[in-house]
Amino acid sequence: MISGDDFRRPRLRRFPESNRQLRLGSYLRGEPDGIVFKAQVRGRPDEALAVKINCRPPRRGYLGVEYWAFERECINRAILDMIAASLRQAAAAGRQIYVHPRPTTYLQARNNLRAFSDEAVTRPQPAEDFVPVEEAHVTGCLGWTMLLGRDLNAHFRGWGREPRVDNERYPAIVYRFVPYPTEEEHIPEKMIDTIVSQLDFFHITGFKSVLFNADNWRGKGMLVDFSAIVSYHTGQRWWKEADYAVEHKRFRPSVTRAADRGLLLARPPPPKPIVQRHRRPPPPPDRSYLQEDHELVQREEDGGESDQEEDKDESDQEEDKGESDQAGSVVDDDDGPV
Ligand SMILES: Nc1ncnc2c1ncn2[C@@H]1O[C@H](COP(=O)(O)OP(=O)(O)O)[C@@H](O)[C@H]1O
Ligand SMILES: [Mg+2]
Repeated sequence: MISGDDFRRPRLRRFPESNRQLRLGSYLRGEPDGIVFKAQVRGRPDEALAVKINCRPPRRGYLGVEYWAFERECINRAILDMIAASLRQAAAAGRQIYVHPRPTTYLQARNNLRAFSDEAVTRPQPAEDFVPVEEAHVTGCLGWTMLLGRDLNAHFRGWGREPRVDNERYPAIVYRFVPYPTEEEHIPEKMIDTIVSQLDFFHITGFKSVLFNADNWRGKGMLVDFSAIVSYHTGQRWWKEADYAVEHKRFRPSVTRAADRGLLLARPPPPKPIVQRHRRPPPPPDRSYLQEDHELVQREEDGGESDQEEDKDESDQEEDKGESDQAGSVVDDDDGPV
């Protein structure tokens, strides 16, 4: 059950495993917004994950407006998870969800998103030209967590640097790992279609996309950087109706142009490690877009964060320290050095 209220105030669920269970593996990429490690949950070697750790405070972006990738991604992922759950419920009940096929205004975008809420089921039939939503396959997300600087530093020890502040907590989001495609799977024309179908899906569900950057897509054409889309929840400084209205026209041409320029590579060059000590660690995240629970939508307010929970995580990490030192060898690596 996902209400209109849940869509008004999206909150990302918490990663359900304790940090002790999360084992960081090889280093995938670092900065500007975060460092990304391959990871796995202890005892589940077949389930590859990617953890994006946010190490920077909010930064000045376009026109000097502050933007924080962690916050944007939490909100985006909370919305996408609710949409997926709503589509699953509709499929189970033999229903379809109807939306405006080419939204161009804020109201159309918002109404399209609300079409996924429980309230929409009881509404009168949608307008005649509405279409059933076609779900795109989107990279999975398991929720947010907090990691200790000390554990990240232990992981970087091979480089003889100490890039993070030991006792600071760094917010992170756990995603499903998207592997590189095999040679047979790397078909640029198919990749273009896969990417455009995701961009169309994001547009129809109310997101604005940023300019196309092939680095944010991976595998057979999956979006991995969920800062590349912007929900109207972040306000008009970022979500501009005028841009939203016309963006769908550029999806296919920009992706095709990137493919023509050879940017949709099966395996991009290995990343350069950029490891810096940030004097100013990120602020504690605003809990208004985070759920403490790992269920999809939490109904009751839980009266705020319990310190006990936080302490537990910290001691979990403490205990796990020896193990996380060796975690690089735990996960099979197809992505370059740890
Ligand atoms: N879920 C994932 N699976 C595999 N690789 C990932 C995943 N998420 C991120 N990466 C890798 O990390 C890189 C950086 O991630 P991204 O989210 O684009 O961060 P940023 O743009 O802030 O550096 C990606 O280009 C990709 O190579
Ligand atoms: Mg990126």
